Amino acid sequence: MMKDECTLRALAARHGQDHIFAFWGQLNAEGRAALLAQLDQIDFPLMDRLARQWVLDQPAPEVFKDIAPVPAIPVASKNDPAAREAWDAGEDQLRKGRVGIFLVAGGQGTRLGFPGPKGCYPIGPITQKTIFQYHAEKINNLERRYGCVIPWYIMVSDTNEAATRDYFEANRYFGLSPQAVTFLKQRMVPCMDENGRFMLEDPGRLAMNPNGHGGCIPAMVENNVLDDARRRGVEMLSYFQVDNWAVKVADPFFIGYHALRNAAMSSKVHRKREPRESVGVHCLCDGVYRVVEYSELDIYPQLLETDSDGNVVYYAGNPAMHIMSTDFVQSTYDRFDEFPWHLAHKKIAFLNPAGQLIKPDKPNAYKFETFVFDALRFAEHPPVALEIHPLGEYTPTKQFDGDNSVVAARQSMANLWGGWLERAGCIVPRKTDGDVAVPIEISPSFALDEEEFHEFSHGQEWEIGDGLAIAADGSITRP
Ligand code: UTP
Repeated sequence: MMKDECTLRALAARHGQDHIFAFWGQLNAEGRAALLAQLDQIDFPLMDRLARQWVLDQPAPEVFKDIAPVPAIPVASKNDPAAREAWDAGEDQLRKGRVGIFLVAGGQGTRLGFPGPKGCYPIGPITQKTIFQYHAEKINNLERRYGCVIPWYIMVSDTNEAATRDYFEANRYFGLSPQAVTFLKQRMVPCMDENGRFMLEDPGRLAMNPNGHGGCIPAMVENNVLDDARRRGVEMLSYFQVDNWAVKVADPFFIGYHALRNAAMSSKVHRKREPRESVGVHCLCDGVYRVVEYSELDIYPQLLETDSDGNVVYYAGNPAMHIMSTDFVQSTYDRFDEFPWHLAHKKIAFLNPAGQLIKPDKPNAYKFETFVFDALRFAEHPPVALEIHPLGEYTPTKQFDGDNSVVAARQSMANLWGGWLERAGCIVPRKTDGDVAVPIEISPSFALDEEEFHEFSHGQEWEIGDGLAIAADGSITRP
């Protein structure tokens, strides 16, 4: 039940945050109710702890005696008997309905600057198909292939819940069963100024942010998603981030290794090309499996080492793809008090005591988040790390141009699918640097992988021209 005004005022006063009622007299009933609803979700004792630990007293970084690279399973291929065994085990789990899909899509997407949920970004260069649609088509194909229903859990936040739900409704869930698609909302946390005080961005609204992708652990339990998954017989969740159109949403190799090794949480890793590549690094810190964030590389300079051939020694970059067993989500939730928080120094607009909106030109405040990979340290069995090649698996979209961008994602589509067409005997134009020169899209409903593409397109002559998009039914659209 929601706490009343009196209780929330008392709580705010006890925790030194009563300035948030400064403009109460100016608010109408609706505005007051909205502010109280924001306050009701705040864990005041937790915020006190975070302010003391991180804002008022900057903590010393953790010290490790020994940091070692993680042992990773090499990129899986069906020609390798161990990988084949994993593939078969993974397919078996899918057929038996033991796998659910967990998508984190609650972020603010500030760098991309798209006016809507990131998943609604029209990533397809020819079809304008959105990232959500790409994910949905893959699930559609897997359900057909394995004769199962794969529940899809989509984490959203206050910043994008309504728009995401409306988008799926308007598009009739892309042919998926609406009963198998569940939206769950993560919690928000207040931002703090450099004195540990909450900030108003409007007379009736606190500056808050979603509690990070690690917020999926409490969100799953508190929204009964874990119960729903168990009721459906789901034993593991394939976790990925919304902004990667290329992700293998439920990869039999990965599922199979996770199941065969009885892992609680597993991760894919990709080989870093250079030491300062902007990804977190999977490693063993004093024997405990962790991901060291990109921003912490200078704290642990050994993570920047290269060998005599120039290869990065701590090679295991983090593409943010995991499998979590449902029991592990529950046990991590039970210890969520120990889950680490991370803070980021940001520019956050706020109202000054005179009620003027101040837009700072340098970082003035802190945003707190949890990161899902921190759950790895709680896994009792050693986590599985499976190496992947980025092409066809990992091309995140953080901004429009440059590294990890829309432009790079579209190029990766052309390179991946151009390669399939070339090996099917088509002439595919390439630039001098080897990249495919025209836009290409192949619907994952038509073919999820190259093997399936060759099976369906056998004997077909594809004229590439200025580019092409192959739809679910094999029909073609041109740019
Ligand atoms: P990012 O850290 O890239 O954040 O999230 P973002 O919100 O997409 O973009 P920026 O940093 O504001 O530009 C990686 C993934 O984690 C999800 C995002 O939706 C994305 O899929 N995420 C992030 C959440 O679901 N909740 C959060 O609180 C934060």
